[in-house]
Amino acid sequence: MRLIRDAAEFQAAMLGYRARNLRVGFVPTMGYLHAGHQSLMAAARAESDVVAVSIFVNPKQFGPSEDLARYPRDLDGDLKKCAGAKVDVVFAPEADGFYAPGFQTQVEVLEATQGLCGASRPTHFRGVTTVVLKLLMLAQPTAAFFGEKDFQQLTVIQTMVRDLSVPMAIVGVPTMREPDGLAMSSRNVFLAPDERKVALVLKRSLDAMIAAAAKGERSRETLLQEGRAVIAEAPSVRLDYLELVDARTLKATDPIAAPTRGIGAIFVGKTRLIDNCAIL
Ligand code: PAJ
Repeated sequence: MRLIRDAAEFQAAMLGYRARNLRVGFVPTMGYLHAGHQSLMAAARAESDVVAVSIFVNPKQFGPSEDLARYPRDLDGDLKKCAGAKVDVVFAPEADGFYAPGFQTQVEVLEATQGLCGASRPTHFRGVTTVVLKLLMLAQPTAAFFGEKDFQQLTVIQTMVRDLSVPMAIVGVPTMREPDGLAMSSRNVFLAPDERKVALVLKRSLDAMIAAAAKGERSRETLLQEGRAVIAEAPSVRLDYLELVDARTLKATDPIAAPTRGIGAIFVGKTRLIDNCAIL
């Protein structure tokens, strides 16, 4: 496995693979890797000749009062996990070197970023699309792999790649969960034991909406009331949002119709957690 820290060197290596007509799978991450990231690497490994992973905590996607400074990092542990997943190239740029002085370009997807996480994190998605497009230009993959765990992010990136004719496939990979159902996340490490227990209410509220929809309920408000009631059972949890959206457009629908995604965000103490599930 090759570790590259310099962007130009990474791009040259990746252009070399494409010149040899190899299938290149790319997995962008912010590190502190867990089994969710490893499932993306496995999906990339299954359909690529060369697998590249990037590890970069992107300052542009954090708001001024968010957790950039305390975002968890463990490059040594991450490199071991990448080697275990038979990754060929890890790109881990130094924090200061990635955006050269004078960097002044932003990539912005307009509609898909508006609601849901975009409402409470207004500058987040343009930080994501700016870094992801730059990483895709560096990695030059045939396919890039993203988790359904960040469903809005996946949709925003698919929209960007379609709109800008970026020549590669964007592959969505199902959410990996802890045995009790909690979606794996680098931020789960912040949860104290009592917080870890109540963190499950978000998944349970999605499950309640799945069960109601399976029984035939189609009213958006009735379904959301059921979901919100589960979250209200944990008074220490603050609901950021709970929504039912068309899985293709992320727009709210009433009555719900397939394909519908339930999607939500909660604060458990200071930690913000997100999750989503197919409802219909
Ligand atoms: P990060 O949170 O490190 O996630 C990297 C990738 O792993 C994303 O595509 C995310 O959806 C996926 N992922 C995270 N948890 C997962 C889980 N439990 N199951 C399956 N996949 C999971 O998302 C980012 O980094 C950044 O925004 C990034 C795209 C790298 C841009 O900076």
